[in-house]
Amino acid sequence: MSIISHPHYKTLRLIQHPLVSSKLSLLRDKTTDHKLFRELIYEITLMLGIEATKRLPLKEQTIQTPMESCTAYFLKDPLPVILPILRAGIGMVEALLTLMPAAKVGHIGLFRNEITFLPEKYYFKVPEDCEQRHFFICDPMLATGGSAIRAVDMLKEQKVKHISFICILAAPEGVETFSKKHPDVEIYLASLDRQLNDQCFILPGLGDAGDRLFGTH
Ligand code: PRP
Repeated sequence: MSIISHPHYKTLRLIQHPLVSSKLSLLRDKTTDHKLFRELIYEITLMLGIEATKRLPLKEQTIQTPMESCTAYFLKDPLPVILPILRAGIGMVEALLTLMPAAKVGHIGLFRNEITFLPEKYYFKVPEDCEQRHFFICDPMLATGGSAIRAVDMLKEQKVKHISFICILAAPEGVETFSKKHPDVEIYLASLDRQLNDQCFILPGLGDAGDRLFGTH
């Protein structure tokens, strides 16, 4: 798996791997049904998650193998928090929990107003002791960037210092806005798409990720 840094967007980490590319193609295909769509989101998120977590700090501990004692390494406390942006981010939680089974899971409810395209908040719940934890915000789509910016704003209001954003598709317009507002937050991404349309949907995109995940369209 290789990571491409973007010359213009310093915090963008674009994951390149033939399996990510082929799974992404199936994900975009409008004939892909809800079950396969969910499975593909899971599989791509696993691969993004491996890269996004690779600098998590470790602690040393002595353990006994069946042969002898040895120094072992575990994730350092306090453990990270996975923060899906509802609804579509829920589709990425299971994969991140597969990688970090002891992580906490917060929730942030945002939906994009269909007229203003601005995010509206309806739910927010994170662990009380969140300041020292690394947060992995997940959402399959970064379109205008408004939802992701709002999610990071809310974490920073809680004094969270370590935040990464894991996303499957993004539009350049959203990456531009997000990275200007939050230049300290890395974006782990499977594809930087071409542009937004006049309804602020990503092109070529994959449609509405929430609807395709949950069969509501
Ligand atoms: C979609 C998507 C992101 C947001 C991206 O969610 O899952 O959360 O839009 O758009 P932005 O970058 O312009 O803010 P939506 O508001 O459709 O809600 P849903 O997940 O409940 O379908």
